[in-house]
Amino acid sequence: MVYAPDYPILTHRLRLRPFTRGDVEAVFAYRQREDVARFLFDSPMSHETVTEAIQQRISQSAVEQEGDKLVLAVDLRETGELVGEISLIWRSEIARQGELGYIFNPLFHGHGYATEASEALLRIGFEDLGLHRIMARCDARNRASWGVMERLGMRREAHFREHARFKGEWDEEFVYAILEDEWAARRVPAIAVGEST
Ligand SMILES: CC(C)(COP(=O)(O)OP(=O)(O)OC[C@H]1O[C@@H](n2cnc3c(N)ncnc32)[C@H](O)[C@@H]1OP(=O)(O)O)[C@@H](O)C(=O)NCCC(=O)NCCS
Repeated sequence: MVYAPDYPILTHRLRLRPFTRGDVEAVFAYRQREDVARFLFDSPMSHETVTEAIQQRISQSAVEQEGDKLVLAVDLRETGELVGEISLIWRSEIARQGELGYIFNPLFHGHGYATEASEALLRIGFEDLGLHRIMARCDARNRASWGVMERLGMRREAHFREHARFKGEWDEEFVYAILEDEWAARRVPAIAVGEST
């Protein structure tokens, strides 16, 4: 069965939605940067590569089988500016596993936007897709990335040391994850606070 969230997905400050062809310039602005690509498998992207990538992402707004992914644009609700992108890959149907990813424009780092958008995607993964576990991974030197994972309540499950070559160096990878029970337990106090105010 095909699953597509009810778009746009709104959070307190953000709007998550499928990509459109009109997003090329805003995405190129950050995907061309060396600092953004530093810990990504991708190299800094040319305008042409971004255009092709956006074309592919336009169709990545629904999932049907494991291996499919949701890749969504993240806009500021207040100004409509595109601030980054967020993804959820459906890794396993039988084991109900997913993987979270995010890339934001450095102009918009430091406001909690990646964490806020990720929370919305975790909710979709657990509540709508019925996932059991959602993991995320990053280069161990990517402090900003594992900072997001820790703010989300994900646990560090692994530190793979020199397990692969990455951009000419040994790769050090952290794996973080959160189970559906752990996620639900974190949501209870938030709801309780909301109800009492
Ligand atoms: C990984 C990445 C998305 C993290 O972005 P970020 O802006 O640091 O993350 P958040 O949106 O969660 O913001 C957290 C920061 O905002 C601050 N902040 C401000 N207001 C906040 C709020 N309302 N809620 C939460 N944090 C807030 C936090 O204190 C934190 O600052 P600190 O890093 O100085 O401690 C970003 O570094 C990035 O895009 N990097 C390049 C691509 C990349 O490496 N992606 C990950 C691949 S694994």
